[in-house]
Amino acid sequence: MASGRFITLEGGEGAGKSTHVDLLIESLDAAGITAVKSQEPGGGSAEAEKIRALLVEGDVGRWDPVAEALLHSAARRDHLVNIVWPALELGHWVVSDRFADSTMAYQGYGHGLDRAAIEQLYEITVGDFRPDLTIVLDLPAEEGLKRAGKRGGNEDRYERMGLDFHERLRDGFLDIARREPERCVVIDARPPREQVQAAIRDCVAERLEVEFP
Ligand SMILES: Nc1ncnc2c1ncn2[C@@H]1O[C@H](COP(=O)(O)OP(=O)(O)OP(=O)(O)O)[C@@H](O)[C@H]1O
Ligand SMILES: [Mg+2]
Repeated sequence: MASGRFITLEGGEGAGKSTHVDLLIESLDAAGITAVKSQEPGGGSAEAEKIRALLVEGDVGRWDPVAEALLHSAARRDHLVNIVWPALELGHWVVSDRFADSTMAYQGYGHGLDRAAIEQLYEITVGDFRPDLTIVLDLPAEEGLKRAGKRGGNEDRYERMGLDFHERLRDGFLDIARREPERCVVIDARPPREQVQAAIRDCVAERLEVEFP
């Protein structure tokens, strides 16, 4: 069906996902590939953006973990149906700032929801569709929170969940990548952004056979 490729960037708060999605799209453009930027939750789909506000703003404890996972899944389905799948069918590539690994990391490793339940939810929401490549940006939790804190704004509900939670996320993302090495690549997000972006480009070039100019 789809002829475009689907790349996801994952990692904890402030790891550099948004920064590197933009830079990667510029690099893909320079390589003659039309790439669409996306983001979860929301992804520019009108209804999913309403769900985003329910998840990233407000009281830390406003949702129990199951409700939180269901809301992320509803937003994900909407984003796939309205943004990702139509773009891939046109032959465009999609680069998404977060996708389903964030649900496994945050609601699974972070809040303690059962792995099997989250996998079942994936099956219902996404089916057998998978990203062609997932880049996990790895950064110590404390450093990520420091970087994210400088950004400001009111989309900080997850940022306020405490250091322990964020350390579990980091371990969770690394474990997810270890379990699926054919899909996931871990990149050290500590160096300056030019160096991180060069590592991302090398990885996309190798895994997805792109020739960057
Ligand atoms: N390699 C880097 N070194 C230092 N600062 C960086 C680096 N990469 C990104 N930053 C800065 O860190 C902050 C967080 O980056 P960014 O918003 O891209 O992270 P994010 O992973 O999207 O965070 P969130 O999960 O909170 O959306 C930004 O101010 C960005 O400019
Ligand atoms: Mg971001």
